[in-house]
Amino acid sequence: MELLEEIVEPLLSWYDIHARKLPWRENPEPYRVWVSEIMLQQTRVEAVKPYFARFMKELPTIGHLAKVPEDRLMKLWEGLGYYNRVRNMQKAAVKIVEEYQGEMPADFDKIRELPGIGSYTAGAIASFAFGIPKPAVDGNVLRVLSRVLKSYEDIMKQSLRRKMEEQVEAVIPLERAGDFNQSLIELGAIVCVPNGAPKCGECPLKSLCRAYEAGVAEELPRKTPQKSRRIEDRTVLVLLSDNRAALRKRPGKGLLAGLYELPNLEGHLDREEILQYVRGLELSPIRIQELPQAKHVFSHIEWHMEGFAVKVEEPEQDPEGMFFVEKEEMERRYSIPAAFGAYTEYFRHRF
Ligand code: ADE
Repeated sequence: MELLEEIVEPLLSWYDIHARKLPWRENPEPYRVWVSEIMLQQTRVEAVKPYFARFMKELPTIGHLAKVPEDRLMKLWEGLGYYNRVRNMQKAAVKIVEEYQGEMPADFDKIRELPGIGSYTAGAIASFAFGIPKPAVDGNVLRVLSRVLKSYEDIMKQSLRRKMEEQVEAVIPLERAGDFNQSLIELGAIVCVPNGAPKCGECPLKSLCRAYEAGVAEELPRKTPQKSRRIEDRTVLVLLSDNRAALRKRPGKGLLAGLYELPNLEGHLDREEILQYVRGLELSPIRIQELPQAKHVFSHIEWHMEGFAVKVEEPEQDPEGMFFVEKEEMERRYSIPAAFGAYTEYFRHRF
């Protein structure tokens, strides 16, 4: 028997006993699997749970997701980051409503063609929700397979991912396709862990694992290091008028598209430059105060921020492209990226 054929039975038996009870597993409807898998792409299981519950409560069907106004959708996603993921979900939801009567099609290729759904997510939806025997190979699974097979190939390579998908597809059990995929993911999440030593003592594949046998489990998988990030200096302003702060909407394209932000400028400006900018907005500054520096790391960029609170006289009209809001309204209505967290916190505590 091929090595990967041999892992099927022990993995499924282990999964039956050890699988965590998770909301999207208890009731694996296609929409629930989809939402949870997209959230889980960048966020840990425990952190996802409350977001998942809130999202499903407010948008219980694909039809609801297709129709929700953009600002509300962004607010529901606030804190999860990588907002394009949820924009793509909405595009896909619109397509599902238009072409499939609002129901996720029970067909791997049709699922895979939806916006924002790659081969992993399509495999997860197809197998967990419909029992279709397609692989769902994510980072967890790549780690488990690299170790079991003692593969030193770079898991960042698309070609390796495809090869692993083919190998899984060749052994996936027709009766328990979803459970088998989940058992690989689960083993990677709780036993064959990424950071720190894998818990080989607890592993149902210990006697089959070639990396364990050779004592090299911790060296695997191999992964090319990420390119270094571009650093951007920015100056963030908390413009305060009475008990309100200024917000503006970001452009519809690019980083953090369409979200709301505190006014900010490229570079690290000094007080005089900031006051000049504020006067250029036809605002009258009364006082300026330096705030602590902050850093935010995106996937390809790092913002190194300096912040200033500038108190201004109440303007007769909002500056071009900006508006002033009170704390409660800011929290309830506007999705402001976590990157500005240090400065929105300042505003929240001040009022
Ligand atoms: N990480 C990504 N998908 C997961 C799933 N379905 N269960 C647990 N952890 C996951």
